[in-house]
Amino acid sequence: MSTPPASDAVTRHYRQGDLRRKIDEALGRLYPDQNLLTTDHLRAVDEFHIGGHAATRQIAEHLELQPGLRVLDVGSGLGGPARHLAQQADVDVTGVDLTAEYVAVARWLTDRVGLSDRAHFLQGDVSALPFPGASFDRAWMLHVGMNVKDKSRLFTEIGRVLTDDGLFIVYDVMLTGDPSLVSYPVPWASEPGHSFLARAEEYRSLLRGAGFEIVAEHDRRGQGVQSLRDLSGADAHHPDRAPAPGGLPASVNVAMGSDGPIKIANVVQNMEQGLLAPTEMVCRLR
Ligand SMILES: C[S@@+](CC[C@H](N)C(=O)[O-])C[C@H]1O[C@@H](n2cnc3c(N)ncnc32)[C@H](O)[C@@H]1O
Repeated sequence: MSTPPASDAVTRHYRQGDLRRKIDEALGRLYPDQNLLTTDHLRAVDEFHIGGHAATRQIAEHLELQPGLRVLDVGSGLGGPARHLAQQADVDVTGVDLTAEYVAVARWLTDRVGLSDRAHFLQGDVSALPFPGASFDRAWMLHVGMNVKDKSRLFTEIGRVLTDDGLFIVYDVMLTGDPSLVSYPVPWASEPGHSFLARAEEYRSLLRGAGFEIVAEHDRRGQGVQSLRDLSGADAHHPDRAPAPGGLPASVNVAMGSDGPIKIANVVQNMEQGLLAPTEMVCRLR
């Protein structure tokens, strides 16, 4: 019997089947009198990385954006980060994501906030990007590399679709301790076999091998732990005491499914034990 491709495990992990209905219901509960939604309203559900919207805003500042630039969002999820860039910086953003349900929800949400002319979403594998060379001026990738085993190929693909002076930012959860001690499930993987964590040294070396120079690096662990604690009240020392799903904000319940609370508690514990750190690397093509 042949082994299913890793991409099957990724889409099985993220796919929920009824995500659009759940988001619609969550937004209806949160904003019952709101006919017209804005990106501010969607923030409760549409950002799927440690630090949420605060991290999106800070990292976006490092992208050196100007109106009209073409930006690639590598692994765009539900589209929150892409919509932020399209709206705040007046750039044209294309998001690519493997999970077809996420792409459909990203398009629907983008339509609801009137940004479909500036933020587009395609289903595809970021390790084989469906674009000719030099199609984008900037690229960013928020919390996706943990799902990709062959990061050398991934970074080479990103370098290929960027223009010569292109800038790329990766913001991933990186390994800082013994991988065998990492507790699962975590938001990006239910089990260790589906998680491809790597150390910052490995990222640097693979990025350099793909033609990038790393111009800045930010360890966002402190901010990350605090934001997840604020979000969930997760108790790192007692993950079994994670709050019940009903007690958590929509972002955890909707995006992460029924075991969202335990995934959050585990990732907080892993960070506090020094095993993982969300890390941003700002890279330029050499
Ligand atoms: C933790 S979510 C982050 C989503 C988004 N970047 C954000 O910050 O809101 C990871 C996303 O990566 C996508 N993904 C994982 N592996 C991928 C691949 N090989 N190609 C395209 N998308 C991928 C998943 O479908 C999921 O939407």
